[in-house]
Amino acid sequence: MCGIVGFAGKVPAAPILLDGLKKLEYRGYDSAGVCVYHAGSLQVAKKQGELKNLLAVTDNGATLPGNIGIGHTRWATHGAPSDENAHPHLSQDGKIAVVHNGIIENYLALKEMLLAQGVTFRSETDTEVVCNLIAMYYARSGNFLWSVQMTREVIVGSYALVILCADEPDTIIAMKQDSPLIFGQGEGCNFVASDVPAILKYTREVVYLNDGDLVVMTADSVRFLNRQSATVEKKTEHIAWDITAAEKGGYEHFMLKEIFEQPSAFAKTISPHIQDGKVVLDGVSFEERYLKNLSRIYVVACGSAYYVGCVGKYVLEKLCRVPVEPMLASEFHYCDPLCDENTLVLVISQSGETADTKLALLEAKRRGARTLAIVNVVGSAISKEADDVIYTWAGPEIAVATTKAYSTQLAIVYLLGLYMARLRETITDGEYDELLAAIQALPGQIAALLTEEKIQEIQDFAKKFHQAEDVYFIGRNVDNATCLEGSLKLKEIAYIHSEAYAAGELKHGPISLIVPGTLVVAVATHPDLFDKTMSNVKETTSRGADVLAVTTDAFADEIGKTAGQWVLIPETLPLLQPSLSVVPLQLFSYYVSLERGCSIDKPRNLAKSVTVE
Ligand code: M6R
Repeated sequence: MCGIVGFAGKVPAAPILLDGLKKLEYRGYDSAGVCVYHAGSLQVAKKQGELKNLLAVTDNGATLPGNIGIGHTRWATHGAPSDENAHPHLSQDGKIAVVHNGIIENYLALKEMLLAQGVTFRSETDTEVVCNLIAMYYARSGNFLWSVQMTREVIVGSYALVILCADEPDTIIAMKQDSPLIFGQGEGCNFVASDVPAILKYTREVVYLNDGDLVVMTADSVRFLNRQSATVEKKTEHIAWDITAAEKGGYEHFMLKEIFEQPSAFAKTISPHIQDGKVVLDGVSFEERYLKNLSRIYVVACGSAYYVGCVGKYVLEKLCRVPVEPMLASEFHYCDPLCDENTLVLVISQSGETADTKLALLEAKRRGARTLAIVNVVGSAISKEADDVIYTWAGPEIAVATTKAYSTQLAIVYLLGLYMARLRETITDGEYDELLAAIQALPGQIAALLTEEKIQEIQDFAKKFHQAEDVYFIGRNVDNATCLEGSLKLKEIAYIHSEAYAAGELKHGPISLIVPGTLVVAVATHPDLFDKTMSNVKETTSRGADVLAVTTDAFADEIGKTAGQWVLIPETLPLLQPSLSVVPLQLFSYYVSLERGCSIDKPRNLAKSVTVE
């Protein structure tokens, strides 16, 4: 969602802020702005639309001299995307400038109070209210820090706020609650940002801030204060990954690059957890007794991460013989879930910041469940809140549509299943060894799906079907779970209406939507269910559907008897097949989106990290 960068240094701030905002574009935004202090006042430039509009009005930052400033990319919540609603917001008296990620829930009441005092507003945003609130306290006290602290006492909601004061032109104050914020220590300069890529060009030394933290920084100094206003020491973390990991590296889109990174991301994710032929999970401290008494696992997540949970249901239930319920995080919180100390709540999140998932995690903890998070972003809120964490090592994922994070989350689910099954004694040694060997073979098998020949095949199907208006994905068992992800990909990046149905369920209603020419994508990899899925495919072809099937090499001779066109994928054990069958679906969506001229990496209305409920 929104992105933030703040800079205090001894060189012009605007070009650095604009460069940082460029690195945050992937988060999804609809306007951008910067504010720089210069010659006694706070200068703001902001524009609706892409960052290039802001670059144009500021001549790439040249029209905004000054060595301290704040910048923002906005994803509209309160008020439409417009120049007025874009951040930074300036207080009516011009003394305070603010950028903000999050939502201030009580902003209407605060706005009324400020209106009654004669404050006028230029935007519809909650942020402008915060800005004028700080200005009100500042007008009374002349104390910048105190004014920000007072404001913190009054506002309710989620925020990463970064603030400038015209009377203290060397200082930036930032504070956070339920929205990500990091501090970056440079050479003769300091930064705050919502995400590492914004500042990685300038520093690798960062501090991940906690809820309630407040930062007071200048070019040469930094002070961290906790909620009780006591000065606290913070641990600096070194970022090991390189900025090139967050750049396109010659690919036309981040999404394509990230699809191609899947073999190495998968291998990097599993390798630290396999030692001497056994799964080791350092981030997890399950006692054997706890695992034996486990009565239920909830897998709680949103979007694609939830669909990993849908695969996880089949994998974990089959291996561990315990009921597994995938639940959308936005529903979990409000459904009075049955949790006790024998419940494991597994939360999955690439960003580790998704508000729905974080709230569900807190609710699970409140109800006494044990929580384990599978997270990609180190230091993220969810990684800090969960009892145990296992990281996926996918590297930064920039495209809004997830691919490599999805694949690496699946990898951890397989390892977790094996690990728990062994301790619960629900798997034989032979099965364990066979599965582990098959998991280790997956990176090579994924790579085999990314050859020029395979890509060409899928590109041809994309050319043929890119004008489809309704697409139905069908499959059984794990193939059904893979269909959910394939369908989401097509919706989000190609803007095509699509639905995923359990193949056997079509005849209970949705088959009435199949008319001549409707595209049906059938995923049929499970050897025991192939014939049954083919029967369902026939139900659609006899009503005129055009079928594109995804199946394994094992069915190369069979598939043409039922489906008009197909993609063959390598065979692995049925439970692991989703790691392979998802790849042609990702590529199909990518190339359909390309044919349709959609914004692949930044689809309309979407954001990479969804930090509002
Ligand atoms: O960061 P998270 O994994 O928690 O994000 C969850 C969903 O928002 C995310 O998977 C979303 O559905 C993706 N855009 C799908 O490609």
